Amino acid sequence: MDKPSGESQINQYNKLSAEYSALTEIDPAKQFVQYPEALRLLGDIDGKKILDIGCGPGTFARMLSRRGADVVGYDPSIEQIKKAKQTEEQEKLGIKYFVGDRASISPEFKFDKAVSVMVLMYATDKKKLQDIFAGANEALEENGSFCSITFNPTFKRFGEVTYNRRVVRTEDGKIRVDFLDEDSNVKISANFSDFSVSDYETAAKEAGFSKIEWVKLEIVPEGKEKMGNDYWKDFENDPPYIGLVATK
Ligand SMILES: C[S@@+](CC[C@H](N)C(=O)[O-])C[C@H]1O[C@@H](n2cnc3c(N)ncnc32)[C@H](O)[C@@H]1O
Repeated sequence: MDKPSGESQINQYNKLSAEYSALTEIDPAKQFVQYPEALRLLGDIDGKKILDIGCGPGTFARMLSRRGADVVGYDPSIEQIKKAKQTEEQEKLGIKYFVGDRASISPEFKFDKAVSVMVLMYATDKKKLQDIFAGANEALEENGSFCSITFNPTFKRFGEVTYNRRVVRTEDGKIRVDFLDEDSNVKISANFSDFSVSDYETAAKEAGFSKIEWVKLEIVPEGKEKMGNDYWKDFENDPPYIGLVATK
């Protein structure tokens, strides 16, 4: 398991590449909450230029592209971008992927909307969190918005198994998520930062966003049908994920 240091927090998705990529395609929390709710927050995307920040293996970028968006994704993980590019080779959607941050994309290239799905909390500290917001702000057209799905800062059920995962606080003040298989064995783990509501709001404002709105997330009806209501027990009372829309 990775040590929860800043360095391993940055590099961990290189090591998790294949496992994480496969998980994004089938994981109920991603397929029935995170991705459809990110689509809802984005609203109309047909013909729009969208920047997918921390795109990982490109699973969500492909959803955007199939819905008519012109998509660019970046991620600091070389391995995740390698996966995304391999898939683009197999199914050519015209998505462009970059390793790195906003600086890897031409500054003249501006976007209608930016999005990040389960990325913000991987910033190693508050300064890095602000850097992500600043990159999004700089990349957006006037009045553009940055829609994120992130770990809910008020989540309570640490140590319990919730939706194929167990989330625990670590000794050094970070959070670790263990992704579990059907027999509750740990498949992969990842460490992230324990940001508060005010950490997010301050980072967004300091980066130049004028309006910040938190959005409660829903489980799409297909997810309730497929997994059953028991699977999603207490999701509404104590959601692990939350939406954040920052407007320029
Ligand atoms: C949980 S994965 C989410 C991937 C993808 N958004 C998805 O939902 O399928 C988190 C991703 O954030 C990336 N990441 C970590 N720190 C980042 C940063 N400072 N800026 C952008 N992406 C970052 C990781 O490399 C990893 O691919």
